[in-house]
Amino acid sequence: MARLSMRSSDIKPSPVREMLNVSQRPGMISFAGGLPSPETFAGLDLPPPPRDLLQYGPTEGEPALRARIAEDLAALGLDTAPDRVMVLSGSQQGIDLAAKLVVDAGTTLAVESPAYLAALQVFRFYGARFEIIDRGAPGAGWADAPPSMAPPSMAYVIPTFQNPSGHCWTADERAAMAAACQAHEVILFEDDPYRDLVYEPCERRPVCAGLTSGSWIYQGSFSKTVAPGLRLGYLTASPDLFPLLVQLKQAADLHTNRLSQWMVLQYLNDPGRAARMDQVAALYRTKRDAFADALTRHLGNKASWALPPGGLFFWLTLADGVDVEALLKRCVERGVLFTPGSHFLAEGGASPTIRLNFSLAEPEAAERGLAVIGEALGEMARADERT
Ligand SMILES: Cc1ncc(COP(=O)(O)O)c(C=O)c1O
Repeated sequence: MARLSMRSSDIKPSPVREMLNVSQRPGMISFAGGLPSPETFAGLDLPPPPRDLLQYGPTEGEPALRARIAEDLAALGLDTAPDRVMVLSGSQQGIDLAAKLVVDAGTTLAVESPAYLAALQVFRFYGARFEIIDRGAPGAGWADAPPSMAPPSMAYVIPTFQNPSGHCWTADERAAMAAACQAHEVILFEDDPYRDLVYEPCERRPVCAGLTSGSWIYQGSFSKTVAPGLRLGYLTASPDLFPLLVQLKQAADLHTNRLSQWMVLQYLNDPGRAARMDQVAALYRTKRDAFADALTRHLGNKASWALPPGGLFFWLTLADGVDVEALLKRCVERGVLFTPGSHFLAEGGASPTIRLNFSLAEPEAAERGLAVIGEALGEMARADERT
């Protein structure tokens, strides 16, 4: 038998990647992944890229792209500079690098619950234990924790249009989180891939911009605004952490794909960029509103939800006791896929919640898919009444 590392002995497949395989079946209506609408993908009518990009490049990324990203991040109030920006092979890589930097077996991380499941998966892989963040009182208990229960090493948060809940933190919640991390020397890791997909006015100032000292990592992505297939994200970090993250990336993949970096730079320098982003947000706002109407028609008396002010997801709470896995099975048989909310819980366990992505399905398919979920829920409720 192959002798594997301890951490590989308990490795689990990502439920979302598994579901993506099911979603490829012909005719499947998928609300499961976080896939942007192909309608939003930036055009590819670009000049041929310079030939020297076929050579190895710097680990931190292409200098012109780093400078451009630094400019955008500084405008958000972050303390950064081009030499403290690193281009990532997708922001998923930033999660992996941060986990490698911070997590040993048994390390405590503060996370929201529900939280981005592929981040929880990485943190668990490296052996993290979770403490759940109370947004209303972040850091409660960190001050008077006994020495055996030191504050967490790092807090991982998605304050703007959270995946999966769609929630956007208030200014007070952001300030409290920054103050708690700073006071207790907890690394603040802010993941911000959805900030430009904004449909209602809300506070979006990065939490990291509220720090005046301490260690932090802030990351973003071009997956939701340009195209996920390019696999391009970026991070900036406090001066103590940045060089360590660069060294970890050196060991991971030497550097990010240079052709993708060049393509994204063309997009960022395009004078039509702001107008294009407005169009993308307008398209998603229309899709969100149509989805909300269809939800009301098909699940109005079977679930509750809040209208997401940005991002790509609705988070639904069903009646207590609904067997969500049984619901998913029924729906998949009828060609509809969604993600059970339990996958996003840091504490594990069952949950009468589901996450629905509204960006991918066409409105007519969304209508049919939601009707299927509503019918399946109705059948399950009637079967329960009979037993
Ligand atoms: C919160 C969050 N972080 C990170 C990622 C990874 O994005 P990517 O690697 O495509 O940049 C996602 C993808 O959906 C996400 O929702």
